[in-house]
Amino acid sequence: MTGATSADAVGPRGVPERIVHQADALTWLRARGLLVGASVITSLPDVSELPALGFDGWRAWFEDAAVLTMSTVPREGVAIFFQSDIKRGGGWLDKGALVSRAAERAGMGLLFHKIVCRKPPGTVTYGRASYSHLLGFATVLRPSLRRITADVLSDAGFMPGSKAMGVKACVDACRFVLQETTTRTIVDPFCGWGTALAVANAMGMDAVGVDLSARMCKRARLLRVDLEGERG
Ligand SMILES: C[S@@+](CC[C@H](N)C(=O)[O-])C[C@H]1O[C@@H](n2cnc3c(N)ncnc32)[C@H](O)[C@@H]1O
Repeated sequence: MTGATSADAVGPRGVPERIVHQADALTWLRARGLLVGASVITSLPDVSELPALGFDGWRAWFEDAAVLTMSTVPREGVAIFFQSDIKRGGGWLDKGALVSRAAERAGMGLLFHKIVCRKPPGTVTYGRASYSHLLGFATVLRPSLRRITADVLSDAGFMPGSKAMGVKACVDACRFVLQETTTRTIVDPFCGWGTALAVANAMGMDAVGVDLSARMCKRARLLRVDLEGERG
């Protein structure tokens, strides 16, 4: 479904809510408009997830999708992206750079750029980098230097799927939202397994997810994470 209303974004305080829509994220975001009271934590799909677009088509789609996502984030919120670089045909695709270019187009400033190790440092990988970028952007909001946190996360934490965000990375992102913004709803328009949604709920925030896949929506509605044990 598409066209969610503001009423589905915030539940009664005390019991964090999770709502997951099966929809095309771009259609949903355009229909939904400004996500008042919310911040975004997301991970846009890799080229391997959208093969029909071809590499150049996917690059253009990725940047436009990031711009649209950022344009729905209100002034009181932040947009946080978890993205993994890929090695392709002897070259290297820097998704952190793609998201940063989108932020310039959306008129947002970079608040932080962290490196999250998905494999132990020193691990050689083929195809996908062993680290991910965790980038935070906002229009006017700027974080307090007194509450600055680490630039390198040595462990992404439990990942429910191969392309999922790690629980520890989501905890870091949600903590930033709680400390630096007044927003208390996390929206993930490409929610996949629902890692960001489950962590947001576990940290007391409401969560709204969108995914094209019925299978992923089902998983995202059910995922529970243990913030201490980091596993599901
Ligand atoms: C990188 S994965 C997200 C992983 C997620 N952050 C997690 O922790 O599990 C990208 C997701 O985007 C979904 N997707 C791809 N195209 C989409 C679209 N147009 N609208 C909504 N979801 C889409 C895929 O089904 C996939 O689950």
